[in-house]
Amino acid sequence: MNALTGKHIVLGLSGGIACYKAAELARLLVKAGATVQVVMTEAAEHFITAVTLQALTGRAVATSQWDMREPNAMAHINLSREADAILIAPCSADFIARLAQGRSDELLSLLCVARPIERVPLLLAPAMNREMWAHPATQRNLMQAVADGAVSLGVGCGEQACGETGDGRMLEPAEILEELEAFFTPKWLASERVLITAGPTFEAIDPVRGITNHSSGKMGFAIARAAREAGAQVTLVAGPVHLPTPRGVARVDVHSAQNMLETVEQHVATATLFIATAAVADWRPAAVALHKLKKDGSGAVPQLSFVENPDILAQVAASARARHGQLYCVGFAAESEDLLANASAKRKRKGVPLLVGNIGPATFGQDDNALLLVDEAGAQELPRASKRELGRTLVQQIAERLRSRR
Ligand code: CTP
Repeated sequence: MNALTGKHIVLGLSGGIACYKAAELARLLVKAGATVQVVMTEAAEHFITAVTLQALTGRAVATSQWDMREPNAMAHINLSREADAILIAPCSADFIARLAQGRSDELLSLLCVARPIERVPLLLAPAMNREMWAHPATQRNLMQAVADGAVSLGVGCGEQACGETGDGRMLEPAEILEELEAFFTPKWLASERVLITAGPTFEAIDPVRGITNHSSGKMGFAIARAAREAGAQVTLVAGPVHLPTPRGVARVDVHSAQNMLETVEQHVATATLFIATAAVADWRPAAVALHKLKKDGSGAVPQLSFVENPDILAQVAASARARHGQLYCVGFAAESEDLLANASAKRKRKGVPLLVGNIGPATFGQDDNALLLVDEAGAQELPRASKRELGRTLVQQIAERLRSRR
């Protein structure tokens, strides 16, 4: 289950080269469990054929308000009444102008005007050349369309089909999907400010070597995405991982445990929820060699000594705001066995109300996981599922605990 399961999306294509990306978007929407009804303007049909979109969505594409296959000859009414949302992607400069004026002389703009405005959201993924995007008329029209109830998903920045570089590209299909899923997610964490640590830390030995922990960061990133979808303002403090930043999440990259602690300290004062998923190295080399340690041929090995790293979670959990209930702390525990006993002991030792246990070796680098939630009421299993799904469930579980505390 995800936020788009069972949703009926009218996907409107207006004219623009980004129409080629709409095919991928239609596929992603269908994969996410939505039914997709494509509507194309005449201009869109110059860029991609209706056959492609029909094959991807399993539904005949609507192109004209004069389509006599509709028994009541009112395609604009039928299409807009069935929709859970209308998504225009790509949304051209001309189409934005049409929306601003409330034009209704072709099917797509007609059904936007005909939609029940309170019930059927209208989402726009603009796509155009950077000069067209920056033009005062386009910005004025977009402001008018938004004032009339449309939601702009924004544009991407980068190389454009025309060879120029700047703002105005359509968001990538995966980004639009992310926006749509966020749009349909209940706002369990509205007005919460969430700080999350994720990934491993890297403790340098010399300029080319170091020690680290197993951790892909996937669970922490999935929680960050789910928290943002649930309406929270999210800051993600990430150790060295190769993962894209979830949309709408503020990310700060760090390396060492000390680095992570300093960054957490900078952001925690305004947070209402702290979730520590990072696999922080427990120790670091006592001294970092200035230059690369060299073999001298004698077979002698370097003698490393270690000092203990600060315990970020324990430190945050012991802060006055956490003790006075203004900051809710959630810890993680990656164990190799005896999960319930280890997680319960760790919850007490760290002084956190909720601790989430998992068997580390069974999940490192994987896309799925199984979790055990331990709090004062006892333990609750979240059975094996994708980290994406577990992130969403965990966010709901945390939201329930927050509600019952306030
Ligand atoms: N943690 C932290 N700072 C540390 C060590 C751990 O913030 N220096 C946090 C982790 O992000 C996690 C929780 O504490 O939320 C437990 O981490 P884990 O590595 O499982 O526990 P340790 O405290 O290292 O205990 P042990 O190694 O004995 O299992």
